[in-house]
Parts: sequence; C-alpha cells; structure tokens
Amino acid sequence: MDLSTTYLGFDLPHPLMPGASPLADELDMVKRLEDAGAAAIVLRSLFEEQITLDQLSTFHHIDAHGFSHQEACSYAPDPHEFALGPDTYLEQIRRIKLAVRVPVIASLNGTSPGGWLHYAQLMEEAGADAIELNLYMLATNPHDSAAALEDRAIETVRSVRSQVKIPLAVKLSPFYTSFAHVAHRLDDAGVGGMILFNRFYQPGIDVEELEVRSELHLSDSSELPLRLRWLAILSGAVKASLAVTGGVHTTLDVIQSVMAGAHAVQLVSALLKRGPQVLATIRSELASWLEEHEYESLRQMQGSMSLRSCPDPQAYERANYLHMLHSWKPAS
Ligand SMILES: Cc1cc2nc3c(=O)[nH]c(=O)nc-3n(C[C@H](O)[C@H](O)[C@H](O)COP(=O)(O)O)c2cc1C
Repeated sequence: MDLSTTYLGFDLPHPLMPGASPLADELDMVKRLEDAGAAAIVLRSLFEEQITLDQLSTFHHIDAHGFSHQEACSYAPDPHEFALGPDTYLEQIRRIKLAVRVPVIASLNGTSPGGWLHYAQLMEEAGADAIELNLYMLATNPHDSAAALEDRAIETVRSVRSQVKIPLAVKLSPFYTSFAHVAHRLDDAGVGGMILFNRFYQPGIDVEELEVRSELHLSDSSELPLRLRWLAILSGAVKASLAVTGGVHTTLDVIQSVMAGAHAVQLVSALLKRGPQVLATIRSELASWLEEHEYESLRQMQGSMSLRSCPDPQAYERANYLHMLHSWKPAS
C-alpha cells in the first residue's frame, strides 16, 4: 500500500513521526525510532528564555511585564534546569544528522522577535532539515491585545523565515479568537507547515499544602477531535502542509487525522507510554485498513473529510452545535 505523503516539502514514505519531546535527547532512542519506521525525527524545543539567559543579553519580553531584571531572573528557570543548553542542542542536531537518514526537525520555542532567533540560522548550519517554531505562550497580560500578540507572532515567524532557507513549520495553540485568520496570516508569511495543536499543561491546586501543582499528564484520544475540526477547516484552504499533534494513539486516530487533512501525524504520549514499536504497529495496521477499504493510496484519503470535501460540512460548524444540543436525549 502506498502510504507516501508530502510534508514541509519532504517526500515521506508515510506520515508517522515522533513529535517534539525528550524522545530525541538520546541517540539510542533516536535510532530505535528510526528502526521502528519514524518518517522524521523532531527534537524538543530550544526555548527563547534559555537562549536569552544564556546570552545574558536582552530580557525585553519579561520587561514588558514590568519586572526588574533581578526579579525577572528569579521567575525564569535556572539555565541548569534545561535538558539541553543552546550549544548542546546544536551538537545534538549534528549527532542525530550523522546517525539517521530521515529528515531532522529542530524546534524553537518563543514568541517575540529578537536576537535569540539567530539560533534558527545556527540550527540550519548544524544540519537541521527544517525548523518548528513553537508559538506556545500564555496571554496573561491585560495590556496585550489579541491583535498585538498576533502581530508579534507573525513578526517572529517573518524574522525566522528571513534567516533560514530550510522549511519552517509553526506549532500552534487553538487559543486564538479567530484561528482561521491567524492561520491565513501565517500562510502568507511563508510557513511551510502548521502543526495543530500544542497542549497546555494545566495547573491543579494542592488544597492542603496550598501549592499550585504543575503536572504533565500524557494525552489520550479524547484530545483529538479539536484537532480534527481545525485540520478539516484548514485543509485545502492554506498552502502550508498540515500536521496533527495531540491525542493520536491508535490507527483509527491516524486515519481520522489524514481524512481531516493531515499530511503528517506526530505522536508523543503514545510513544512515551508504549515505546517506538507503536510506529511500526500503526503503520502496518494503516496499510491493512486502506487495503480492506479499497483505497489505492493514503493520498486518496487525505483531506477526504475536510470541510470542503465532506458530505456534511455543517458538522464542523456552528450548525452542528445547535443540532447536538437539541437532539440530545438522556440514556433510558
Ligand atoms: C515530556 C514532554 C515534553 C515535550 N516537549 C516539547 C517541546 O520541547 N516542544 C514542543 O513543541 N512540544 C513538546 N511537547 C509536546 C508534544 O510535542 C506534543 O505536541 C504533545 O505532547 C501532544 O501530543 P501527544 O498527545 O501525542 O502527546 C512535549 C510533550 C511531552 C509529553
């Protein structure tokens, strides 16, 4: 079965790859992922804070919140808390490039234009085949308007775009007032791929110790439908290729993602829970499923259930909300 796909301009044998995570920290695991069939390797993110702390230069983004430099430093993580420092990160790209044949995708996390973005160029020089720009941020400052934040993100993307020749993808959160508009602006800014969606790690409160607990829970498939909706809405509407991240655990999750329009499918929680072999299992089950359902290739299925192609486009839109609420009946 032809499972090939094109993502970020790369012709890949199939869409399955690990998402950004500690999975690429150790060469041994990277090789195991490649052996299990990973179509690409994605490194964890190098963070804006990491780079700016390392360079001890500018703290503009923290200043914007009105803290002094000393205070800002105490809020930012200690440089030693980061798993890979900036130099080690570049070295890790070089080591992975020597070890595998599949495309190697580096990841930068931050949202403000600045000198730290020079690292995109260093990543390219270190051999990265593409870069994910992870636009993870929390808009907690009441003086920041949605438009100002979006402008800043677009400017950041433009700045990276102008510094490197390799493909650039953006990893997005769903928390935009008008997500489709933001996606189109990013498309116009020249991103080659959009990755939907990052997961936000939610705080809990320890009511006895009066502490905020930040725990990282791995996902399950219930997180996928949010991604399916937006993949389906963007599929065929933007030039950028689309990747899904968040809640992909089973072969059916992959099939749904591709039908909604995904060109690449990233897994992290499933790999952390069940190991690299998940990639091989899903790949083989995917091929069998397509054969049983008389598809000629994965591309034939790609986007077949997008907003533009599916028989009931209203299912993705507001009309479905009305329908769902009015047709609900208690179980008898
Ligand atoms: C331990 C861990 C570390 C992660 N580190 C990063 C990171 O550095 N950069 C990034 O963009 N995403 C990071 N992620 C998010 C994943 O790439 C992925 O988007 C998210 O876990 C949702 O996918 P999943 O449901 O398959 O886990 C991390 C996730 C986990 C669980």
